[in-house]
Amino acid sequence: MTTYRIAPSLLSADFARLGEEVRDVVEAGADWIHFDVMDNHYVPNLTFGPMVCQALRQHTTAPIDVHLMVQPVDALAQAFCKAGADIVTFHPEASAHVDRTLQLIKAEGKQCGLVFNPATPLSVLEWTLDKIDVVLLMSVNPGFGGQSFIAHTLRKCEQARRLIEQSGRDIRLEVDGGIKVDNIRRVADAGADTFVAGSAIFGQPSYRAVIDAMRAELAR
Ligand code: DX5
Ligand code: ZN
Repeated sequence: MTTYRIAPSLLSADFARLGEEVRDVVEAGADWIHFDVMDNHYVPNLTFGPMVCQALRQHTTAPIDVHLMVQPVDALAQAFCKAGADIVTFHPEASAHVDRTLQLIKAEGKQCGLVFNPATPLSVLEWTLDKIDVVLLMSVNPGFGGQSFIAHTLRKCEQARRLIEQSGRDIRLEVDGGIKVDNIRRVADAGADTFVAGSAIFGQPSYRAVIDAMRAELAR
């Protein structure tokens, strides 16, 4: 049976109260904390760096899932590993040497993964599926929370699921962008097992109510 994981994105949390937000959302049932790192270069927005990750590490034992939207990648990937990240994912086109970046993360004893924008082909997986722990599919263009889910990513999700099954490895298939209570079941049916949700959770007064509603959809 698939174990589904829900990973609230701090991008939509109250930045003035991040520690409390992390504790509240984990208390409400979050499995992972999704930490969106934007550098105003790879994406046109700017969020937080390793020092913030290190500060939040004290507030939870839940896995911190760092999504790097940065270029170059390597120095920050290493810095986040040292700052307490559990999972570090990056966009392959942002790294000059994808295999080397994956090795850097593994050498720090962390899980690693690759992120694919809506129009980026999955072809690099042919040479990386034997090394990664997570495939993260963007279902919006990266840079901002609160965007609408791009429907063609469902077909891509099915394709990624087939590749993961063929590899025979234990790899999480995570989808990020525009996930809500009313579409999470469709995304799961397409093969995803891990769901990032920012505005859907932090935009509501009860985080627990949203996470419970998402789990109820996944249990259907
Ligand atoms: C977008 C980020 C996402 C985003 C998800 O660049 O990677 O994690 O914050 O937010 P929602 O759920 O609001 O689309
Ligand atoms: Zn993200």
